[in-house]
Amino acid sequence: MITLKTVQETREITESWIKQGLKIGFVPTMGCLHDGHVSLIKRARSENDKVVVSIFVNPIQFGPNEDFERYPRDLGRDCLICEKTEADLVFAPSVDEMFPCHNLAFVDIKELGDYLCGAKRPGHFRGVCTIVSKFFNIIRPDRAYFGEKDFQQLAIIQQMTLGLSFSTQIVACPTVRESDGLALSSRNSYLSDVERRAARVIPKSLDLARNALAGGERDATTLKNIIIQKVATEPLAMVDYIEVVDATLLKPIPRIDRPAIVAVAVFIGETRLIDHFLIEEGF
Ligand code: PAF
Repeated sequence: MITLKTVQETREITESWIKQGLKIGFVPTMGCLHDGHVSLIKRARSENDKVVVSIFVNPIQFGPNEDFERYPRDLGRDCLICEKTEADLVFAPSVDEMFPCHNLAFVDIKELGDYLCGAKRPGHFRGVCTIVSKFFNIIRPDRAYFGEKDFQQLAIIQQMTLGLSFSTQIVACPTVRESDGLALSSRNSYLSDVERRAARVIPKSLDLARNALAGGERDATTLKNIIIQKVATEPLAMVDYIEVVDATLLKPIPRIDRPAIVAVAVFIGETRLIDHFLIEEGF
């Protein structure tokens, strides 16, 4: 496995692979890799000739009061995981390498970023779209792998890829969970033991809403209240948002009368965690 820090070297290698007719799978990450990332890398490994993993904590997707400075970074550990998972290339540029001057060009999408995390984190998805576009231009992957856990990010990247005619195919991969249901996230590493136990309230509250839905409940406010009440039983937890949205447009809906997503963002102490479940056609 090769680890590279410059755009030029990475471009040269991926270009040589493309010339040889090799298919490139790409897994963009911000490091602090966990089993969710491993599942993306393994999927990329099984579907492509070459696998590139980027490790870059992207400053332009963090708001001024967010956790850019303290976001966990451990390149040595991440590279070992990539090597074990049989990635071919880790691209781990510095901030100066990716943004040599003030970034003057941004990629943004319309509407899908207006609700949920987009509303709570202004500029976040613009930062994600910009960095992912830059990676697509440097690496020119055939396929790129994104976790369904960040479903709004996934929908936005799919829209961006279509809207800007990137030839990369976006591959959605299932959320990986701990045995108690907590969705894997690099930010789980911020949780103390007591906060980690408290975080169980997130999947549990979603389970309650799912059960109510299975019992025939279709009213979005009732489903949201079920989640709010469960989260309120945990003193360390505070709701950031709970929304029931149309699964395609990601706009809030009052009733479940079409495919929908029940999505939450909850603070456990200082740590903001997101989770959701999808209500498919024919629920
Ligand atoms: O999902 C993430 O880790 C990031 O948003 C991504 C896609 C690597 C862009 O920085």
